[in-house]
Amino acid sequence: MQRHGEEAIAAAGSAAELEDVRVRFLGKKGLLTGILRGMGALPPEERPLAGQWANAVRDRLNALLAEREAALVARETESRLAAEALDVTLPGRRPPLGHRHPLRVVWTEVEAIFRGMGYEVFEGPEIEYDYYNFETLNIPKGHPARDMQDSFYVTDEILLRTHTSPSQIRFMRQRAPRLPVRMIAPGRVYRRDDDATHSPMFHQVEGLLVDAGVTFGDLKGTLLSFARQMYGEGAQIRLRPSYFPFTEPSAEVDVSCAICGGSGRLVEAELSGAPAGGLPCRTCKGTGWLEVLGAGMVHPVVLKNGGYDPERVTGFAFGMGIERLAMLKYGIDDLRLFFQNDLRFISQF
Ligand code: PHE
Repeated sequence: MQRHGEEAIAAAGSAAELEDVRVRFLGKKGLLTGILRGMGALPPEERPLAGQWANAVRDRLNALLAEREAALVARETESRLAAEALDVTLPGRRPPLGHRHPLRVVWTEVEAIFRGMGYEVFEGPEIEYDYYNFETLNIPKGHPARDMQDSFYVTDEILLRTHTSPSQIRFMRQRAPRLPVRMIAPGRVYRRDDDATHSPMFHQVEGLLVDAGVTFGDLKGTLLSFARQMYGEGAQIRLRPSYFPFTEPSAEVDVSCAICGGSGRLVEAELSGAPAGGLPCRTCKGTGWLEVLGAGMVHPVVLKNGGYDPERVTGFAFGMGIERLAMLKYGIDDLRLFFQNDLRFISQF
């Protein structure tokens, strides 16, 4: 009896099992209790001895139960501690930090440079009326200049804007007749174009300055100052005659290549065994220049459409491609990289 009890106690693996054992041996209907009840049937002289024995067994089992219970509690505490162990000396997990897209970096930089020159920032709609996108900019229906920008139409009269130039008219109409007008308007534009240097969606920054006595020299000075703030004091600009219906005269403006320093060659390549004189620079295709914007003196018709008198004021306007500016800044030769959101590319900036 005692041995059975001892074995059962030792075998109990949990507090619940232990309680079962206690009930089985010492409970009201337990084995030992049964024995004690049955003692009445014994001859009187045997009762004291049997009583002593039964008490000894009960005490012994009670002591073992208490001991086993303590051991089980200790074991459970231990395994819980092990399972919930927390190493407070481990370094924390840092949430990965994102950063701005390279185009946004350049966009913000352009804004900062022009704000510094007294320009205010304006925002025009991406879904635009034909009227603002073309008509008021001196590009009537059927004008061949529309071909170059053939675009995404929503209806006959509404399209995704093909340039930021409609912001010129929208801004002047808000501002007229007050002077000066000094505005830049950055944003997305859309054209039916898709190759290594053209994307159907890209970004421009429009610029417009209108005042009494503004000259082409002011335009050149402003663009040169911008190029030097953007690419360093050594930057040069080059103007080539061009045509836009909304400026006269008009120019395409190149900035000296910041990657090869305008030489068109990458001389560092010599170190790695390239031919003497280096390799042609890929960013500017070996020319030393990168076309980044169109510009010109605001056409009298456009001034009039904006609410200004072309007999009394003149102005200049420009539109630069943010992707082009960024390619020149970072030495990137495929514009599509900006839009693929490949982290291997994007996290380099
Ligand atoms: N809107 C022209 C373009 O998209 C750029 C430009 C803007 C040219 C302002 C002259 C003046 O190519």
